[in-house]
Amino acid sequence: MKTIIEAHNLRRDFKKITAVRDVSFAINEGEIFGLLGHNGAGKTTTIRMLTGQLRPTSGEGAIDGFDIATEQSITKPLIGVVFDSQNLYERMTGRENLNLFADLYGIKHYCVQELIELIRLQHRSNEKIETYSNGMKQRVLIARALLHNPKIIFLDEPTRGLDPTSAREIRDTIKALAKTGVTIFLTTHYMEEADELCNRVAFIENGEIVALDTPHNLKLKYGERRVIVTITEHEKKSFSLVDPNDIQQLASLMSNGTIQTIHSQEAALEDVFIKLAGQEFEK
Ligand SMILES: Nc1ncnc2c1ncn2[C@@H]1O[C@H](COP(=O)(O)OP(=O)(O)OP(=O)(O)O)[C@@H](O)[C@H]1O
Ligand SMILES: [Mg+2]
Repeated sequence: MKTIIEAHNLRRDFKKITAVRDVSFAINEGEIFGLLGHNGAGKTTTIRMLTGQLRPTSGEGAIDGFDIATEQSITKPLIGVVFDSQNLYERMTGRENLNLFADLYGIKHYCVQELIELIRLQHRSNEKIETYSNGMKQRVLIARALLHNPKIIFLDEPTRGLDPTSAREIRDTIKALAKTGVTIFLTTHYMEEADELCNRVAFIENGEIVALDTPHNLKLKYGERRVIVTITEHEKKSFSLVDPNDIQQLASLMSNGTIQTIHSQEAALEDVFIKLAGQEFEK
C-alpha cells in the first residue's frame, strides 16, 4: 500500500494555545480516513496545515511525498478541500457554478456533467443555488473541489448541521467517490458516520491523537464486551463480560436454566471514544 498523506510531529501553536501537538500519522492511497474529536480538538487546524493554508509551527507533513510547506506548487493540485465556510454563487445554478470553476481551471464541461452525476444532482442542476437545501449545496461544494481531478479530498465536517436524509446523501456521495480511488480525509463529530465510512479513524483530543486504528479494532480493544440475554419474551438484560458482578449474575441465570437466548453485543465507537476522551460528544 502506498502512503499518500504523512504527518510527522506536526504542531501548531497559536499565541496562548497549542492547537495541534506533535501529531503523526500515515494515510494510504484510496483510504477513507476519519479524524474525530470534540469542538476545538484541532481537526480543522490539522486540515489547514495539510492543505497548505496554515504553516506548521514545527514538524513536517507530506502529500504524495511532497512537503506541505515548501512544495505547495506540487501539493496543491493534488488536493481538493471542502470547508463549511465556503460559498457558492446563489443566483447561479449548480451547473453554472461548476462550469465557472471548470473554466477557471481550463476543464471541459463534460467533466462537470460527470460530477453532477456523481453527486446525484442531475434533476436539480439547472436550478439556482438559492433554491437548494444545505445538503445539496454541500454536494455541489464537493463536486467543485473535485473539478481538477485531485488524488485526495479533505472534507471538514461534511455532514455538520444536516438532517438525517441530507447526511445520508453526503455519505453516499463519499462512498461513490471512494470507489473512484480518491483518498478521503474527513473530520466529523458523528461516531456512527465514522464507523460506517472510514477504513481507519484517529481520535484527537486537545491537539493530541489518543488512538488510531480501524473502527473494528478500536471496538475490540477498548469496547466492553457484552451479551444480551433473553429471559422471557418481555425481559431482556445486558451483561458485561468483564464486570465480575455481571458475570456472577449471568452464571446464576445460566445455572437456573431460565435463559432463552444469548446474543453478543458489539461495542459502539462512541463508547470507545468516551472511554478514551472521557466525555460524550455533543449531539
Ligand atoms: N487562527 C486562530 N487563532 C487562535 N486560535 C485558534 C485559531 N484557529 C484555531 N484556534 C484554536 O485552536 C484550537 C483548535 O481549533 P480547531 O478549529 O482546529 O478545532 P476543531 O477540532 O476543528 O473544532 P470544531 O469541531 O469546533 O470545528 C481551538 O482552541 C481554537 O480556538
Ligand atoms: Mg473545525
